[in-house]
Amino acid sequence: MDVQIRRDVEGIIDANRKALSQLDGRGILITGGAGFLGAYFLDLLSLWNETGAKKHCQIYCLDTFITGTPRRIAHLEGKGYFHKIAQSVTEPLPPGLEVDYIMHFASIASPTFYRKYPLETIDSNVAGTRNLLEYAAKRKIASIVFLSTSEIYGDPVASMIPTPEDYRGNVSCTGPRACYDESKRLGETLCMTFFRQKNVPVKIIRPFNVYGPGLRIDDKRIIPDLFHSAIFEGGIALHSDGKPTRSFCYVSDAVDAMLKVLLSKLDGEQFNVGDDSQEISMLELAKMVRSQFSDEMKLTFKASEEKDYLTDNPLRRCPDLKKIRSLLGYEPKVGLAEGLSRLKGWYERELEETGGSGR
Ligand SMILES: NC(=O)c1ccc[n+]([C@@H]2O[C@H](COP(=O)([O-])OP(=O)(O)OC[C@H]3O[C@@H](n4cnc5c(N)ncnc54)[C@H](O)[C@@H]3O)[C@@H](O)[C@H]2O)c1
Repeated sequence: MDVQIRRDVEGIIDANRKALSQLDGRGILITGGAGFLGAYFLDLLSLWNETGAKKHCQIYCLDTFITGTPRRIAHLEGKGYFHKIAQSVTEPLPPGLEVDYIMHFASIASPTFYRKYPLETIDSNVAGTRNLLEYAAKRKIASIVFLSTSEIYGDPVASMIPTPEDYRGNVSCTGPRACYDESKRLGETLCMTFFRQKNVPVKIIRPFNVYGPGLRIDDKRIIPDLFHSAIFEGGIALHSDGKPTRSFCYVSDAVDAMLKVLLSKLDGEQFNVGDDSQEISMLELAKMVRSQFSDEMKLTFKASEEKDYLTDNPLRRCPDLKKIRSLLGYEPKVGLAEGLSRLKGWYERELEETGGSGR
């Protein structure tokens, strides 16, 4: 396990020991386990097994590797409690699979890739989510979490920023981002239907722009894209006018929140997960990434080669976190400058270990 990820995960374990013991001796399925957030969650569970658990939990990692990489989970292979299931979440689950907890991360999450694979994105969020909910209902599992997205709010009206969970959204159902936004919305509808009709103990999480070690440099989301241009082109390239704003959340803060939600009894609830301490423009972000290298580095505005790059791009994004703060005592801790520095360290280690490819 990477040194920084290990350090961060140790912090999450320290803050959640009592709740984590619920997992001892149980089975847990992580869909999308080879991706950014899923693999981080696997590292958390693995370290818990090895340093805190009274009895190992059995960890099942399901992935098609459409955007995730086998390399990201290679260090877990061979551990007796780790089981890899190489299949789509839309296919029937392996017969005899016995799990009590499910984290459903599987979905293409990067806009460039969901625009390239729109049907696969819709299928993971709709057919895949239904598949897991049917299993959860039949087996009467302890808890299941659906990873939705802040994108279900679309481009919120100004009075709804910061955006609370009860905002209904301002979303295009036909644009190039709709395959993601609308399939997450229908995924949420499925979750609430199974909660109301079949008492499935499902919770919904809406993450707001999570970043940190584990986020592939060729992922094409904004932060890796800025690092990519700084490292491989020697300059920072912005594909917008720099004015849209976002609120970025460091991965260990987000995963701490996800764990708290999974192990809570707050069934049928939706939670924003993010960091509301700094809503910044893309230009300010570009300058912060640049300062990780040199303030002299060239910063340019260059149209993306992808024609739909900016279509329906939300202008502002900032979470209202009152609900998760008051119900689960969540508090983001790692500021953006510190998080970017930890991410830079991870990119340097990854590029060195992979001979510059990052894969
Ligand atoms: N990272 C964020 O900032 C963020 C923000 C909002 C929502 N989310 C949601 O969190 C989840 C995880 O995001 P991430 O950043 O780790 O994305 P990611 O692309 O890094 O990981 C997704 C993983 O799912 C796998 N996958 C895709 N379709 C699959 C399928 N049909 N069956 C099995 N595996 C499949 C991919 O191969 C990949 O390993 C996604 O559902 C995403 O929509 C993430």
